Amino acid sequence: MDNRPIGVFDSGVGGLTAMKELMALLPHENIIYFGDTGRVPYGSRSRETIIRYARQDIDFLLSHDVKMIVAACGTVSSTLPPAVSDALPVPYMGVVSAAVQTACALSLGGRIGVIGTRATIRNNAYGRAIRGVRPEARVFGRACPLFVHLVENGHFSKEDPIARAAAEYYLAPLLEEKIDTLILGCTHYPLLYELVSSFFDYQVTLVDPGRETAHAVQSYLTVHDLLSGRTEPGDYRYYMTDSAEDFCEVASVFLSCDIRAQAQQVAVS
Ligand code: DGL
Repeated sequence: MDNRPIGVFDSGVGGLTAMKELMALLPHENIIYFGDTGRVPYGSRSRETIIRYARQDIDFLLSHDVKMIVAACGTVSSTLPPAVSDALPVPYMGVVSAAVQTACALSLGGRIGVIGTRATIRNNAYGRAIRGVRPEARVFGRACPLFVHLVENGHFSKEDPIARAAAEYYLAPLLEEKIDTLILGCTHYPLLYELVSSFFDYQVTLVDPGRETAHAVQSYLTVHDLLSGRTEPGDYRYYMTDSAEDFCEVASVFLSCDIRAQAQQVAVS
């Protein structure tokens, strides 16, 4: 049993898709969320910069005595070398592995699409992981950098003309390739779930890494006897590196609740 909080981080608000799943699955756990909104997006930055930022984010969470670190960011998860995550004093989990396991299990024809940030698609971590599980699979990666900005600015409805135009531009090549399964390889993208699903006429199975990872976290904490022994509802804290007001506004859409009383802007270095 371990009553310390779980630490979750992302470059911005996207990781809240994972946080929401964690809150539902593990209602008695305390969770600290860190969103580096002052430096989002990470996905168009160099590998070195992403690793440097991720280390700072992790150090911030460790300073709050977390029992586990969840990188709820496809970009960090696919970039951070195991040498860094293995050396942490607490267990670490990214979003790639759980999403890949599910996609490989659900894909009927083995034609798997992956959408993500430029860094995520460039480093091909999802592709390598998929072939590790299903060597015969065909993987089709597509970077969709504007999706993060659309989500951060509230353009995610299926009817939104800007979001629809971006979806057409980014997803048409994957439609051509006749994918049967698509990993939403960036934690911002589940907000576009309806839009993406309708683009493929609901014929493609979408995999949400945040949701899959939340299940993996639950299993890990259970198996390692690290669940909280508390019986009261979990306590949540949100830290961000840019305006708390802006964060809370977008977060209220992600989480369907008002988090202003639990949010605080901080600086990390
Ligand atoms: N949520 C991040 C990810 O999953 C956002 C990407 C970014 O910061 O560019 O990759």
